[in-house]
Amino acid sequence: MSKLNDNGTNGVANHVMQTYGRWPVAMVKGEGVWLYDDKGKQYLDFTAGIAVTGLGHAHPKIAEVIARQASTLLHCSNLFHIPSQMELAGKLVELSCCDQVFFCNSGAEAIEGSIKMARRYAHKNYGPEKHEIITFEHSFHGRTLGALTATCQQKYQEGFAPLVPGFHYAQSGDLESVKSFLSPEKTCAVLLEPVQGEGGVRPFDKQFLMNLRKLCDENGVLLIFDEVQTGVGRTGTFFAYEQLGVEPDIIALAKGLANGVPIGAVLAKQHVADVMVPGTHASTFGGNPLATAAGVATVEILLQEGILAHVREMGAYLVDKLQTLVGKYFVAQEVRGMGLLVGLSLDRPAGDVIKACLEKGLLLTVAGGNAVRFTPPLIVEKEHIDQAVSIVEQTLVELYQPV
Ligand SMILES: Cc1ncc(COP(=O)(O)O)c(C=O)c1O
Repeated sequence: MSKLNDNGTNGVANHVMQTYGRWPVAMVKGEGVWLYDDKGKQYLDFTAGIAVTGLGHAHPKIAEVIARQASTLLHCSNLFHIPSQMELAGKLVELSCCDQVFFCNSGAEAIEGSIKMARRYAHKNYGPEKHEIITFEHSFHGRTLGALTATCQQKYQEGFAPLVPGFHYAQSGDLESVKSFLSPEKTCAVLLEPVQGEGGVRPFDKQFLMNLRKLCDENGVLLIFDEVQTGVGRTGTFFAYEQLGVEPDIIALAKGLANGVPIGAVLAKQHVADVMVPGTHASTFGGNPLATAAGVATVEILLQEGILAHVREMGAYLVDKLQTLVGKYFVAQEVRGMGLLVGLSLDRPAGDVIKACLEKGLLLTVAGGNAVRFTPPLIVEKEHIDQAVSIVEQTLVELYQPV
């Protein structure tokens, strides 16, 4: 048994499977936009647990709801009605263009549910030939086999063949490329992230999406939006699609929906949801009392406290500040994003910048290899953004020369 020192495990034998490249740091506490490691070091968290804890860490109202629910009823199974599940579904329907909600536990599961729904809808309405799905280069939809197949990035798929049949990959933002794969007899759905997150923070063009919607309608093809990362206020509206002039038929949600309690959801328009009858899909934990109570509280706080407008203001502020680095440092190429899902693309892999910022107490993530991704809690204030951008700038000065 190996004893690991100096790598964040504090000498404890580590039997956790090595599927993550972890920093040598163990986080033990959080408060608002701050995280603390086991040595007491403070970090400004511009990851929010990879776009999850939108309301910040240890939000007192969420903590209270979780504690109350834990001492009342944690779990009872979907053999029974769950009042908080119905309440959360009602809120999501009210906020969206959809009519029905299926709850699961993660983003990948929400994608699996979306794929199943789209295939079953096409199967019932047109027949089994119409089962193909088009996704886009640079996409990321999760790690289960269906979601992994939908993910058009070879590095994630390597070693897992054979993947799920019936997927095609189009060039991002290129309608002709979509048309080259789309067939009215065979295509059942097009799936995309309104802003590609893991693939490098790449927003889709509004006009492209409007043309795509039209193309889908003309061919009996469903449009699925993966809003796992962009949803729940991250882009400044509850759903990113609200800013894009199109309505999807199916929406996958997860990440921020319960501020850190695992949850996923598939939202669908009525005619799509109608094909899902008892026995067609299920999840033991999906939408359990704990997760959905936390989800209800998260959505309420987000809306009641005016956080969506705050995200738009802070997002614009962050973009403006980062823009000053482009042109000043030769490595900094472009600022992209929507709301508080923002990327600063570099002319090289972003890992060195992320590492140096971590050492300086700022947490960031890499997206698409070359982009530094900023996904702070949605409650972030200007002073935190000033501090974060100043640490990034200091890092660029130290690592690279100004122009
Ligand atoms: C857009 C998108 N879809 C799906 C997923 C998969 O979510 P999960 O890790 O909860 O399975 C992610 C995760 O990063 C994501 O960003």
